Amino acid sequence: MSAKWPLGSEVKHRQVADGTMLYDASRAGNLQADIFDLAQLRQRGLIEAEARGRGTAWFIRMDSRRWVLRHYRRGGLMARISGDRYRFRSEDETRPFTEWQLTYHLYRAGLPVPAPVAARYVRRGDTYSGDIITERLPDTRTLAQAVQEGPQSLLAWISVGRCLRLFHDRGVCHADLNARNILLGTAPGLSTAVWLIDFDRGGLRKPGWWSDANLVRLRRSLEKISWGLPPEHFSEADWHGLLDGYQQGHAQRTLPRPVTSPQTTPLEP
Ligand SMILES: Nc1ncnc2c1ncn2[C@@H]1O[C@H](COP(=O)(O)OP(=O)(O)O)[C@@H](O)[C@H]1O
Ligand SMILES: [Mg+2]
Repeated sequence: MSAKWPLGSEVKHRQVADGTMLYDASRAGNLQADIFDLAQLRQRGLIEAEARGRGTAWFIRMDSRRWVLRHYRRGGLMARISGDRYRFRSEDETRPFTEWQLTYHLYRAGLPVPAPVAARYVRRGDTYSGDIITERLPDTRTLAQAVQEGPQSLLAWISVGRCLRLFHDRGVCHADLNARNILLGTAPGLSTAVWLIDFDRGGLRKPGWWSDANLVRLRRSLEKISWGLPPEHFSEADWHGLLDGYQQGHAQRTLPRPVTSPQTTPLEP
């Protein structure tokens, strides 16, 4: 495997019975490929819940470990034709390995993303199917759920905007920035903690219009979700709060930045 970014020694790459696996041994120990076997996980009673994004995500619980497993599936028209299969070009271009590596890189750079645990692809002829496991972010809900449940504080919207700016300033383009890929939790002192998830097809880019396109996509997603709900669940003032946070994020970047901890690595678009 030719990694785009440096990988720590805790990252293992292994051939398994029916595929190839990448995992973080410091989180997963000596992980076996059966962790991707949904039927077996069910049988062992390790699936505690599931959530829907574009596809389904399964919440795994093993002792104190709580992970989220996703199987890559096609959306739209292609779903009926090729379901969960993608054309194989090279290992580094597989969806699970690309997403794993980007998420690993962002996590190490100190950005609010879930820690990646493992990824796998299974090749058959010139196609493959794939899966990824990340650490479950505890006590969170998606921005979509939050909006469905009721109005959010202005501070929460500002925090979302700030978080997005953090990623954009570092050149992180999210290929599907919607309200189901933003998770909210509580941070110390009543403020809202915000994470981004689902970096499938995302990547690092030089500054450009893509950052505006990301915001437009999120705005559409919020409109779609709030359609038919009482207007206070998502208002113009909320969106402006988000944009204010986004702008403030920029202002903050011009202030002297604290010395980064030795654990973090710089991002280079
Ligand atoms: N690390 C995580 N922690 C908590 N919830 C998660 C995590 N990853 C995914 N989820 C939940 O699963 C849903 C689907 O996951 P996602 O990564 O967005 O996959 P996709 O949209 O491709 O199906 C999310 O909207 C969220 O509700
Ligand atoms: Mg998603």
